Amino acid sequence: MSSETTTRRQLADGNSIPLLGLGVWQVPDGPECVEAVRWALEAGYRHIDTAQAYGNEASVGHALSLSGIPRDELFITTKFYPGHKDPVAEIERSLRRLELEHVDLYIIHWPQGGPTWAWHQMEKAQELGYARSIGVSNFDVSELQQVAAMANSAPVVNQVQFSPFEFRRGLLEACERMGIALESYSTLGTGRHLDDATVTAVAQAVERTPAQVLLRWCVQRGIPVLPKSTHRERIAANAAIFDFSLSDEQMQTLDQLDATGGTSAAREGKWWS
Ligand code: A2P
Repeated sequence: MSSETTTRRQLADGNSIPLLGLGVWQVPDGPECVEAVRWALEAGYRHIDTAQAYGNEASVGHALSLSGIPRDELFITTKFYPGHKDPVAEIERSLRRLELEHVDLYIIHWPQGGPTWAWHQMEKAQELGYARSIGVSNFDVSELQQVAAMANSAPVVNQVQFSPFEFRRGLLEACERMGIALESYSTLGTGRHLDDATVTAVAQAVERTPAQVLLRWCVQRGIPVLPKSTHRERIAANAAIFDFSLSDEQMQTLDQLDATGGTSAAREGKWWS
């Protein structure tokens, strides 16, 4: 197996996370999800990112057990659905669906009901050995600060929408100051960013695909990426991001695509009530 696809980043709690993962948001539970995870593992991915809200943990678990890959080579993330009450009870259900004894990362999916109410039960899930690392997703700077102020064990990850078009520089810098690794979701803009003229021009210059350029822009900064695809060739191509680099000038050209004004916000609005 290529060691490149498992290039890792250190987390503040001493664990480490592979910079490349397969995201399975919007992949229906069933054969399509099992196949996508299988193809990713065959292409060298060792990191899979799912969530209780995606409804496909059982397919992820099935693909993992079919693969026969030793558990300690895998990095599995799931997310607490904050419409439910108890992170401990919910991770027990997740682990049954995933056919695992622990996940590597368990994160609050979004700050519904406020940023802090679930945190002590996230810590409890970690103490019980259900999750090696714990973190959050879609949290703004002030929400991160509120959690840090009451935590015994602070979040080590904040997973947010992040790409050259959503270059949340304020949030990224705050995360770095707080020892929190920012992870990127929707790096490809759920596909929308792939046709952009600037991205395409950089891709032509480096003889890579637009997807590889967008993913490389993140991993070159040490930011983990979780591209979603259900196509075997795309899953494999999206992993080929560690054998080339973007010049400083190309990075800056992409930086200028930011449409958020370098925001410290994690999201443009609330999607929950
Ligand atoms: P598909 O699953 O049909 O391959 P994001 O990771 O930002 O959520 O983007 C995922 C979207 O981008 C999906 O619609 C996926 O489609 C598409 N996609 C993923 N990788 C590629 C690629 N290498 N080339 C073109 N489209 C891609």
